[in-house]
Amino acid sequence: MATARDHVDLLGQILTEMRPESAKRDRGQMYTPPDVTNLMAGFIPIDDHARMHDPAVGTGGLFRAAANVMRDGGRNPETVLWTGVDIDQLAIACCAVNAVLWRLGPTVVLAVGDSLSDPECLDRAWGMRQECLDIARYGSAVAETLAFFRQ
Ligand SMILES: C[S@@+](CC[C@H](N)C(=O)[O-])C[C@H]1O[C@@H](n2cnc3c(N)ncnc32)[C@H](O)[C@@H]1O
Repeated sequence: MATARDHVDLLGQILTEMRPESAKRDRGQMYTPPDVTNLMAGFIPIDDHARMHDPAVGTGGLFRAAANVMRDGGRNPETVLWTGVDIDQLAIACCAVNAVLWRLGPTVVLAVGDSLSDPECLDRAWGMRQECLDIARYGSAVAETLAFFRQ
């Protein structure tokens, strides 16, 4: 079930307020109002275990709305593969925080890049994610081995 925080994109609003007019005008760097994302999400039926990609993800407003539509329909957004790209690293950082706040689940891959001229940026983000997971797995395997020998 959607909760109060699932209906708010506070970071998106703050980021929009902080932006210079030129960024809003030239790159469309303003958050999409919830009424609009809610309407858009209603047109995109997402099933459990589906993939949703937003090439101009901003702070993730469309993901928020889509996750709420899923929850309202008895589906689980934590099963979805969410991928997003944005040219603005601050927006991607906010989106990463929002992904946790909005309980999007363990498979959220975000990339900083230009979706028009650098479509491979998401592949690089996948690679980096895999590297981090491998390091974490290796680290815990080493810790377990050390703990074994200390016994
Ligand atoms: C209207 S906002 C975010 C929209 C977002 N999908 C939402 O639902 O709230 C548009 C975003 O597109 C990003 N953007 C503009 N040009 C881009 C490009 N070439 N590649 C990736 N992101 C871009 C901006 O930085 C901005 O965050």
